[in-house]
Amino acid sequence: MFRSLLVIFLLLGFPISALAGTDNRTQLIPKEGAHQFPYFDYLTPVWSYNDQVPGPTLRGKAGTTLIVDVDNQLREATSVHWHGLRIDNAMDGVPGVTQDPIEPGERFTYRLRLEEAGTYWYHPHLNAGEQLERGLKGVLIVDERKKLPWSQDVVWLLDDWRLRKDGTIHPYFNTRHDLMHDGRWGNAITINGKVKPALSVSPGERIRLRIINGANARIFAGSIAGLPMQVIAVDGRPVSTFFAFDHFILSPGNRVDLDITIPDDAGGRIFQFEDRFTRRPHILGRIKVKDEKPLKTPQFTPPKAKGFIPAAIFEKLPVTKTWDLNAIRGGRFGIGWAMNHRLWPDADKAAFKIGQPVKIRFVNSSTRLHPMHIHGAFFRVLEINGQPEVEPFTRDTVLVGPRESIVIGLIPEHKGVWMAHCHIQSHADAGMMTSIKVD
Ligand code: C2O
Ligand code: CU
Repeated sequence: MFRSLLVIFLLLGFPISALAGTDNRTQLIPKEGAHQFPYFDYLTPVWSYNDQVPGPTLRGKAGTTLIVDVDNQLREATSVHWHGLRIDNAMDGVPGVTQDPIEPGERFTYRLRLEEAGTYWYHPHLNAGEQLERGLKGVLIVDERKKLPWSQDVVWLLDDWRLRKDGTIHPYFNTRHDLMHDGRWGNAITINGKVKPALSVSPGERIRLRIINGANARIFAGSIAGLPMQVIAVDGRPVSTFFAFDHFILSPGNRVDLDITIPDDAGGRIFQFEDRFTRRPHILGRIKVKDEKPLKTPQFTPPKAKGFIPAAIFEKLPVTKTWDLNAIRGGRFGIGWAMNHRLWPDADKAAFKIGQPVKIRFVNSSTRLHPMHIHGAFFRVLEINGQPEVEPFTRDTVLVGPRESIVIGLIPEHKGVWMAHCHIQSHADAGMMTSIKVD
């Protein structure tokens, strides 16, 4: 039966994937909903995907296609961007650049060819300062072709919310205060929508913990003291050398994958996930070890990056493009965040050739934070304030601190128009956004 079907399909010229049924199809419905925070006796009105905060975790295997039908039930236009995924430019979800906005009541189908395994996330790319803050975001995981024997594969999507005493989301976005500072920092931090959740594990387990910063603006510097662990991937891609997760800076957009082994003798213990980016350290979550006999620890080595871009490629190369980051008067809110003194969409754009290494310099002339993100590409940091820098990983988002200058190197691999912007949503909404055309 299967054989004859195969022959028929081959005769008709059908792609094998259609036959194998490997493509999965799913639906995302952005709509108004409600979410329970522990501080209030009542529900908080939010915007969510499929009535879930955060949205459903989408998953597919590398080499397959994930089809996502978006049915916009919000009262305003939206879009979905797949942060970190290197995909067909037409599927990148940027209104006015790669597609039209999805108007209320309209639908749009995204076809995502999942090529590279890793940790990604999705969020709107329109009125993002408000839409993300109201709850529109979710996780996308691309699984390795060959499954690794972790005993648990866990995702922590970090977020923060600015809530009012009446349990509603503070309804003023891109305020003067937010624009003059580092965007909208909330007063309630959540992991997967919950305040200080506890992950339950057994002694001996080996878990993969994927941490994503999905906040509008807050930066985390997290650590989990007392547990043997290593960073095995940054921004979706395997690192070239494993290293300690020691207050690693996670800007909005950044991800890390951790390889954690729960010691055999840790039964009954609790490990804190603590953030120290601000002066006041605080606990974000916990890992609680069951008081029971240890499980057998799976033995294997996670993959390391093979396609790591060697720094030598960029050695003799002059800087191709410099973007100065600073505030200017003007724009929609009176305070504009500019790249080379221009505001999106009237931006100072770049054009690069496919396969040709380029160097980009971000010069932060302001005293604020700018986590700069580039779509459809990964890059490596080459210099910080004129000093050579070697990170054993590539990124898609890098924090450019106050008055800091950072040079990055990348090799454009995908044609199209790709956005480059600050991932502090208020800064991006106020103009700190441009595009890179690759052909
Ligand atoms: Cu999370 Cu334009 O990006
Ligand atoms: Cu910024």
